[in-house]
Amino acid sequence: MHLTQEEESILEGDSGPTLKKAMEILTTLGDIYGADSLIPVKSAQIAGVSYKTIGDAGLEWISDLEGTVVVPSILNPAGMDLERWQEMGVDAEFASKQASIIEAYRRLGVRCECTCTPYHIDKELAAFGDHLAWSESSAISYANSVIGARTNREGGPSALSAALIGKTANYGYHLDENRIPTIGFEVDCKLTGADFGALGCLAGAEAGSGVPMFRLRSKPSDTELKALGAAMAASGAVALYHVEGVTPESGHQEFPDETIIIERRQIDDVFDEGCGKECGNEPDLVALGCPHYSASELEEAARLLEDHTPAKEVWICTSRRVRDANPGLVRRIEDSGAKVFVDTCMVVSPATDRFGCVLTDSGKAFKYVPNLCGVRARIAHINECLAGEDSD
Ligand code: F3S
Repeated sequence: MHLTQEEESILEGDSGPTLKKAMEILTTLGDIYGADSLIPVKSAQIAGVSYKTIGDAGLEWISDLEGTVVVPSILNPAGMDLERWQEMGVDAEFASKQASIIEAYRRLGVRCECTCTPYHIDKELAAFGDHLAWSESSAISYANSVIGARTNREGGPSALSAALIGKTANYGYHLDENRIPTIGFEVDCKLTGADFGALGCLAGAEAGSGVPMFRLRSKPSDTELKALGAAMAASGAVALYHVEGVTPESGHQEFPDETIIIERRQIDDVFDEGCGKECGNEPDLVALGCPHYSASELEEAARLLEDHTPAKEVWICTSRRVRDANPGLVRRIEDSGAKVFVDTCMVVSPATDRFGCVLTDSGKAFKYVPNLCGVRARIAHINECLAGEDSD
């Protein structure tokens, strides 16, 4: 890989041990994946924030780093609402370790807004054609597919390295040739809401790490695209997809010859799959906001919670910025007894582990909660998730 003189000098250690380490990480990845050079990035989104996932080793690694990020950099969700952790049921020892992790990132100049939907809080972080170093899988999928920016599936350390150097290695989804669809999905029914998460569960498992292209019966909203991409990143390793006539790069792409037809029956089956309706486990937590809810999703939840108390404990996860910008919606939701938590989510928080079965409207949470929390999960449409005591 070609390095400039300045990059060589950082690699030699002339700018200190932290930047040397960061440059080693970037150039090692570049060499492995055949990059020709480093390219500037517009922003970084850094995973590896929850103490549940990185533990003491991760805390120690971040605490030892010195320096300041040189591009706008934002964090992935932490293991708790940084203020309301006790209400979530997080213990004090975890909370103290989590606070130390956040503080270590803050010292590096990272914006300690912990969210997997940075695109909902700051449009400057990613625009069409921008190169990024993002590391949360649903955020990567949204950035590549819906925004038309370019990012690989960075790990936490490589995203942080990119943030410190301001560059990433030029390979993978940064290159046109890796953005061509490899598998087509023709959906022969109309979809709405959580159907897109269910479709993502099916398509991600088929596509693996390929690039799917969809032909849909109706135009999906950005919220539905967010749900589709998140689920495909969880059931497979999809980082980029196209929707014919909808996503920004789809006009330049041919629909693949290898095409799978998806029928209504298959979508419906996902809602009954795994720990489905027949399993007999009554969900004891409703967890929404995976990926973090936007203002319009909070609005929908507030409308559905009008005039009744939900039958179960309800958590709605969003970013601190979206919550603070919508106090009226938050009040309407919380007046029902539901909670709006920020900075965290049902997957990366240890607080989920005490429940027996989680009901969610998210294909991603449906796949991840059993694997990462050891808790059963069911997927349902939002109106079923937020139904009251006397509803079916
Ligand atoms: Fe975001 Fe957590 Fe889901 S990080 S995509 S809410 S698993």
